[in-house]
Amino acid sequence: MPAGRPPKTVLTLKVNGDSVELAVEPRTTLLEALRYTLRLTGSKQGCDKGDCGACTVLIDGTPTLACLTLAVECQGRAVTTIEGLARGPHVHPVQDAFDLCGALQCGFCQPGMMLSAAALLEANARPTRLQIREALSGNLCRCTGYKQIFDAVEVASGQREVAERDPRPTTGGES
Ligand code: FES
Ligand code: FES
Repeated sequence: MPAGRPPKTVLTLKVNGDSVELAVEPRTTLLEALRYTLRLTGSKQGCDKGDCGACTVLIDGTPTLACLTLAVECQGRAVTTIEGLARGPHVHPVQDAFDLCGALQCGFCQPGMMLSAAALLEANARPTRLQIREALSGNLCRCTGYKQIFDAVEVASGQREVAERDPRPTTGGES
């Protein structure tokens, strides 16, 4: 062990349905463990201080900021990242709807955004527009203007049809 480094703790957690064991320092965040130990880079490292939501994962089904969560807190927990959102060979309805609605631009916010949306629909199959806005309020997008994203959640919930030609994202719109 390098001098001055604290001893590592061996954790067992379930990541995207698989039981994994990993050794982490006390200060290692869940985001660091996912990205740099498990090589699951779908969870994005944006602000790294709890502001942007790009690192959002589900812990036991609840949207959680991985950059503010210590890996050691996740012993025995179930963690879902964007890599685990698809259902077998089928993409999750939220992923499909984001694609159909043109709710993607650079994509940096999308893993966290989709996981927050999936958790919302799991808890509330037919959310109102306001409930969608509230559920995604911790996920910042610098590209889309949010309208297409909120539309996509409505499409995923079956409350809205996809327009024949939904306009491609613009920078204006709902905020
Ligand atoms: S990277 Fe976690 S909130 Fe921004
Ligand atoms: S699509 Fe670029 S930050 Fe949301």
